[in-house]
Amino acid sequence: MKTLRHPLALLVLACTALSGADTASAPKQSAATAVVPLPPPPLPVAVYLTWQRDPVTTMTVHWHTDWTEGFTDSVLEFRAAGGAAGDAWSRASGRAAQMPFTNRMVHTVEITGLRGDTLYEFRLGRLSTREPDGAMLFQPHGTVQKFRTLPATLSRPVRFVSGGDIYGGTSPDLMATMCRTAAAQDPEFALLGGDIAYVNNEPKAASRWFDFFRIWRDTMVTKDGRMIPVVPAIGNHEVHGDTYLIRGGAPNRGVSSDRALFFYTLFAFPGRPGYNVLDVGNYLSLVALDSFHTNPVPGPQTDWLKGTLEQRRHVPYIVPFYHVPAYPSHRSFAGGTSVAIRANWVPLFDAAGVRFAFENHDHTYKVTHPLKGGERNPTGTRYLGDGAWAVNTRATTALDQAPYLERAHSKNHVFVVTLMADRADVAAIDPTGAEFDRFSIPTQR
Ligand SMILES: [Fe+2]
Ligand SMILES: [Fe+2]
Repeated sequence: MKTLRHPLALLVLACTALSGADTASAPKQSAATAVVPLPPPPLPVAVYLTWQRDPVTTMTVHWHTDWTEGFTDSVLEFRAAGGAAGDAWSRASGRAAQMPFTNRMVHTVEITGLRGDTLYEFRLGRLSTREPDGAMLFQPHGTVQKFRTLPATLSRPVRFVSGGDIYGGTSPDLMATMCRTAAAQDPEFALLGGDIAYVNNEPKAASRWFDFFRIWRDTMVTKDGRMIPVVPAIGNHEVHGDTYLIRGGAPNRGVSSDRALFFYTLFAFPGRPGYNVLDVGNYLSLVALDSFHTNPVPGPQTDWLKGTLEQRRHVPYIVPFYHVPAYPSHRSFAGGTSVAIRANWVPLFDAAGVRFAFENHDHTYKVTHPLKGGERNPTGTRYLGDGAWAVNTRATTALDQAPYLERAHSKNHVFVVTLMADRADVAAIDPTGAEFDRFSIPTQR
């Protein structure tokens, strides 16, 4: 137990041993057993939010600490924001795991039983045992931070941002600029469609994750100080060997979640095996898919997707998001992963009446026509992409060579999606905050 390595912690342990475990029968405490609080842990070097279950009633808080200090506690306190200073805090605890190949711990606490559409505040801390009664004392540290749960129904518009291919450059400036612009839209959360920090699961590149989380913490905060949760999917640059189906014309290296240890340790969602669904109240299902990075497209994942979509026919907004595009705007339409997605997932999207899906990986901006069975159809799915949050953009395929494309630009961007009962309004903004595209998509019912 690493906590006990610290000399002051050892003193507390000695005091505990002296006083005995049965506090009810403990003799009067001597001066030697006075409270010796544990020192505060190192301040978190990263703090970010995600969800594992309904964002109406839960929140998952992740943070990182330097584990050379022997700190493994994962505990926080939270309460509704805006109350009196003396309002009681509730406590939640979780787990810690080593961030692979680094001296960091990744702490994960899921808070449950929250009220919908409510602003909360939370503070990290650690527990120590008070002598002589054995009470667990919470020692807060760091700043009080805020999050908001989502509404249970579309009683008000719900806005989120979506993008992929995020921290791809050597300078953090573009990522920070794009994040500030995204946060200024006051979104409830950010969908990230893979290629998040371009680490390729390489130990020597771990500092890119440090950069990513530092920039995210500093920039993905709304004007009123609310942290913006992240809902991620995996991309090829989360995986050792930069894996997707076709590299050089042949399936490469196999697929396994063990090839993406950073990704699966850093984010509780989607978690292993790498695909998952997040149901939001009665109106939104976010479907994170793995486009051949740690799971094959055909087989168990497609079987799971079929059942998942069939169970959600009543949900007005089913939003799949994944990395490699079915309908690319830079790479070849004949690419192996794209072919596999069109063969396996697109028919399921068509059957479920999916109105829009997010794709990435090509480092461009694109909007397809509504497509069903690969043909234009006003009741079909629009594929929105193609991942250019903060990477060097690429040339787009000419529209006459890719008739499924309605428009495409070589442009850094994020999508800003506003869900309402009858339609979703979609805007695209560039790093300066300029809106360069806007359209509406009716709900599927
Ligand atoms: Fe990328
Ligand atoms: Fe990619």
